[in-house]
This record gives sequence, structure tokens and C-alpha cells, in this order.
Amino acid sequence: MGTELLDALAGVTAADMVVTGGRIVDVHKKEVRDGGIAVKAGRIIRVGDVASLVGPGTEVLDARGRYLTPGLIESHAHSYHANFNLTEYAKLCLSRGTTAVAESFYGQGQIRGKEAVRFFYEELRRTPITLLFVVPVLAYLQNLELGLDATPGTVTGDDLLEMLDWEGCVGLEEPPYIPVAERDPVIVRLIGRALSQGKVVMGHAAGLTEEELDAYAAFGITGDHEQLNAEEAVQRVERGMMVSTRETPIARNQRDVQRALTELGADPAMFMFCSDVPDAVTYATVGHIDEYIRIAVEGGIDPLDAVAMGSYNTARYYRVDHMVGSLAPGRQADILMVGDLERFDVQTVIAKGTVVVSDGERKHRFQRPVYPAFLQGTVGLKRAVAPEDLAVKAPEGRTEVTVRAIGAESLLSDERRFAMPVEADGTVAADVGRDILKVAMWDRYGRWAEPAVAFMQGFQLKRGAIATSYNPFYNNVMALGTNDADMALAANTVNELGGAFVAVVDGEVLGSVALPLLGLLSDGDSDEVVPRLQRLYTQVAEELGAAIEWPFHNFAFTAVVGELPILKMCDRGLFDVAKREHLSTIVEEG
Ligand SMILES: [Fe+2]
Repeated sequence: MGTELLDALAGVTAADMVVTGGRIVDVHKKEVRDGGIAVKAGRIIRVGDVASLVGPGTEVLDARGRYLTPGLIESHAHSYHANFNLTEYAKLCLSRGTTAVAESFYGQGQIRGKEAVRFFYEELRRTPITLLFVVPVLAYLQNLELGLDATPGTVTGDDLLEMLDWEGCVGLEEPPYIPVAERDPVIVRLIGRALSQGKVVMGHAAGLTEEELDAYAAFGITGDHEQLNAEEAVQRVERGMMVSTRETPIARNQRDVQRALTELGADPAMFMFCSDVPDAVTYATVGHIDEYIRIAVEGGIDPLDAVAMGSYNTARYYRVDHMVGSLAPGRQADILMVGDLERFDVQTVIAKGTVVVSDGERKHRFQRPVYPAFLQGTVGLKRAVAPEDLAVKAPEGRTEVTVRAIGAESLLSDERRFAMPVEADGTVAADVGRDILKVAMWDRYGRWAEPAVAFMQGFQLKRGAIATSYNPFYNNVMALGTNDADMALAANTVNELGGAFVAVVDGEVLGSVALPLLGLLSDGDSDEVVPRLQRLYTQVAEELGAAIEWPFHNFAFTAVVGELPILKMCDRGLFDVAKREHLSTIVEEG
């Protein structure tokens, strides 16, 4: 660090920027007071009376009595769920006042390894957003602890150890409970190294008993975002773990979890916010951390505590509070102008001392890089899909069979069994009337052609099919449909586009959004692609009849995603996560 901050304070040089006429939201003292902020070289040098730091070249911004708050910080999210390149992801976040994100690029790493992680790490660091890089443990781990194979070309244990030393790395991202409890040598070594470097381990403690939580916390895990209610949140707080309340279209937990503060007396200093599974349409139309602050205030949490949960607490958790998270000398100039603290209407966003949004108008010119060839053309089915590939054959001579179906209304999908008739050709078809649809998964790496085929209940498609190449952790081509022909067309269309969300009805492609980067991300401009995503979601609801919100994201999580229970799809067929066991689609009698 140079001495330019001290020079400016000593009057040798002037501030680069001052914000005047604001109401400073002080997350340290928990008060609001009138004042301004002076900035030099992208950092705050004084908060309060800043008139003496103004020189001839100083940019002066009048806050016109608005609140000045720290920029907001995302404590745990995987950008690839928002299906955008990292320049557009930064644009979506910054427009909402999020100026720093904890991120590992694990989804990208699963497809193209360390090189892909590094590419997106660099892309995001070129934007005005601050990357709190965390090591993508899940890119390595995937479903290994369940006995399932990892994707080819993903990151190795040695890659993870190397990434700990990348500039700006603050810790590890969510090593789950099982590999810790079962002493996976890579995970044990990685956690030990991170802790010895003074870095933090964000946990993934879904559904743990109190005894299991003890073991997890004893191993050095100091945070979690998987608690579903206030009681689970308190169990974590009692063990010195910080709680990140999660709010996302596929897991709306915040209102239940934040009752730990309003009803159970937990200290707000132990809480922060996350989306975990971000969604671009929600970011663009509803909000991000700004929305979580509104939800907190609506739930009875003091606005000053809510702002701290969205900024300072997360900075403290990741041990970067000397750098971001509050308005104080030495901190990066990540400053929001907000009209009303309870409505939390972000009007102006300053990130690293640059005005990115001014009175709601985007000022920064975001420049997307040229995306290299190794990030494209990564979806390659072994051959084109034919409708016959989707046949579920009944054992010889049977007129009726019992099938297993994934109950997919919630993330914790259960096993259902249905008696189904065998057709004249000896196969079992989808039953739209009972909402027993077919689901299929194809290997996107072109190693084998035969899909895994099973049944699913909960989406209530009445016509057609949907397909996608986005489904953590496989990110295989998956389709869900009412008939084999539409499913085959949907899968082939995903393949032809190099990755996509696709909806098909009666042999016609109704709509699609291409995801050419790794089959996960759009390479386009979010201003143009977000409305197309919205339109596609609406078509799936209105023309295919889907009763489930966020159809592609909910569908994605019917694939095996680590320890999320119970019945899911893997690349070989149905898999019972709780029992770590493959199951057949047709229940074998006797
Ligand atoms: Fe996560």
C-alpha cells in the first residue's frame, strides 16, 4: 500500500472524491449521524466533516440527505446458478448494491477444472466488485462421499491446495459433514492448511444432529448456511458458528431462521445473508442482499442490525473487515446511497471508489472478455437422442409393474411408488393424469449413449418437455417430459446449442436460452437475456402447465447434489442418497 492516503489526510494532496450531505450509517456504533465521506485511491480516508479535504480536482457528490451505508456483501453464493458470465453477474450484483461476493466458481471448475476457475476468478476481479475467493471444495468432492464418480476433467485435491494461495483467497467453501466425519484425507489436509493460514471454513451442515454439529465445529468449521429454522440457527450460534440466512427461489429459509433473533434472543452479530443458489431473474426484478435487508426489517429486526448483517458481519466472518464492510478510514470506498433505511432502496452505488450506479442509472461500462474455446462446445452427447432411447422396458410377460418416482415438489425429494400398466410394446409410459412424468439423464461427456430413465412427480407438466444442461453436480443433459418424442427433441436441442434451457411442445421448440459457456452460462448481456429467461419460465408455466416455480432450477436439483436427500437421479439411474444405494426404476418383485 502506498502512502497516498496519509498524504491526503495531511493536506499534501486532495481527496479524489468526497460525498457530502449524507446520513452515515455506522455499523460499529450502531447509529446514524450526519456527515460526509472522503475517498483517496479507492479507499475511505475520513468519515464526518470532509470539507477540508476538497481540492480543485476533487469529485464532489451531494448525497442530498440520503443514507450512506457500506456496500453489501454476499456471504455464500455460486454464480453459475444465475447462468451468466461473470461480467454480467457483477453487473446484476452491483445494480443491487452488492459490492463484494464470496465465490469459488465450483460449478465452472467441475466442467473444465482449475483453468476454468482461474478464468472466471480473473473475469470477476476485472469488474468493480470485490471477490472474496473461497476454494471450490465441491468441484473436487462432488458426490465422491456417496460412492459416485466425479466428472472428468474436474479440479484435483492438489489444485485445491494450490488455490488456497491465490491472491485474495479467504478460506474454503462448504466442505460438507460426511467427508469431515469420515476423515477424507484431502479434506482433512485442506481444512488444516486453511486454518493454519488464518483462513475461514464455511460449512454445509444440512440436517445435522447436535452431536454431529459438535464434531463439525470441533474440526474448525465456523459458519453454516443450511439451517432451516430458528431452532437450528440457535444450535449453531451456541457452538460459535455464524449463521448465514438463506433466501432463494428454491430455498426460502430467511423468515424462519431470523426468528432466532426476534424470538429466541440470538445476537444479530452472529448473522449474515446469502442466496447460495442465485437466480438472475430474481436479482434483476426483486433484489439481492437489499431484499434480504427488507425481509429482515419486515420481520422486526432493527434496520441498523440488518445493514450490519448484510455487510460488516460478513466482512468480520471472512476476516476482511479491515478492507470492506463498513464506512471507516482505510476501508475500500464501497458506499451506497439509500433513500429510506427500511425500504432499502439503493439509488447510488460506489464500488472501489468508482460510481457504478448514479440515481438508478448505470454509469460503469462493463466490458465482457472474449471467451476462449476451452469454455465452449463442452456439451457433447455420444449421438443424437431417439425417442426409443427413453423406453422403460417391463420384465417379460407383465401387464402391470410398480415403478419408483422422485417426489419433486421440494428439494428433499422422497421416493414414491406407483402401479403402472405395461403398454402393448412391453414398455411403461408417462401418466400425465397422475403427474407421473419421465425423467432422463444423458452423459454430456460423450462416454456412453444410453440415458438413465426414471419417473418423477410434482412438476405437473401437461404437455411437452423441458431439458437443460444445468444440474449440479453432473451438469449432464437432463429432460423431463410427458412424451418420449418431445423429450428427445428437447435433449437434442440442448446438445446443439452447446448447453441451454429448452422447452418443447408437440414436436416444436417453444423457447430456449442458450448457455454456451460450459453449458452453464450465457455469454450475452443480462439486459437482453434476463427478459428471455423470464419469458421462457412463463411459457413453461402457461403452455406446458408446470405448477412448480423456477422450473429449471428446481428440476436441476433432482440430480444427486451431495448430501441433499433422498431420491435423486445420477448418471446411472435412481439413487437413494440416505442409503447411498442405486435403485432400479421398476421395483423388482419378491
Ligand atoms: Fe452452497
